[in-house]
Amino acid sequence: MKIQNEFRKEIRRYSEWDFEKGRVQKIQINSSNEIGGENGGYCQVYSFSKKKAIKVPRNEENPVDYILEEYENHLIALEKGISTPKIFGLCFAYLDSSTLPLPGIVMQDLGRKTLDRLSIEEAEADIFNSWRKEREKMGKRGFLRWDSSKRTNAIWVSEEKKVYLIDWGRNRYLGNDKYELLNKIYARHKNAN
Ligand SMILES: Nc1ncnc2c1ncn2[C@@H]1O[C@H](COP(=O)(O)OP(=O)(O)OP(=O)(O)O)[C@@H](O)[C@H]1O
Ligand SMILES: [Mg+2]
Repeated sequence: MKIQNEFRKEIRRYSEWDFEKGRVQKIQINSSNEIGGENGGYCQVYSFSKKKAIKVPRNEENPVDYILEEYENHLIALEKGISTPKIFGLCFAYLDSSTLPLPGIVMQDLGRKTLDRLSIEEAEADIFNSWRKEREKMGKRGFLRWDSSKRTNAIWVSEEKKVYLIDWGRNRYLGNDKYELLNKIYARHKNAN
């Protein structure tokens, strides 16, 4: 089956209710577009349209809770100025001919250069310094650095000469202003629409 629709830009507060009532965009994904390989323990990632990727949980007992939590941590990371992929919204993804809806985060596809995949010449450059700085920033800006040291959780974007951090499943925001920040983010998007 083909991709039926382009994801429209939609950042808002989602709840389980949106998923239960089918109030999220439905997107067809294809297993041949899987991009994370063995990298993701908890999730799988698929490329979707030109520059977008969708992350869905593998075998989570409560996949909706899992994705909602990750989505909000990721939005806060963006708000805090951490170099991480842009987010477009949440969706229900349908893999191949499956009728099982998988909750997913739709984000910017940053390419295939996770730090574990860099060649020796590339790895010798300033990339690892840039990575270390970004991770320090993450700690200073209130995030738990749970698995930030994994090379599979950082991507080198050579065009921008910049390392991006990914994976906000376990690297989560600990500040007690979490909901205040989220309200601000959602209000801004609401006004922009
Ligand atoms: N925005 C993105 N652009 C390009 N590739 C991505 C993106 N997000 C994830 N990937 C690819 O998918 C892999 C798995 O993603 P991610 O680390 O977010 O999943 P995970 O299951 O939460 O991982 P972990 O086992 O570390 O908990 C990454 O290592 C990377 O190869
Ligand atoms: Mg990971």
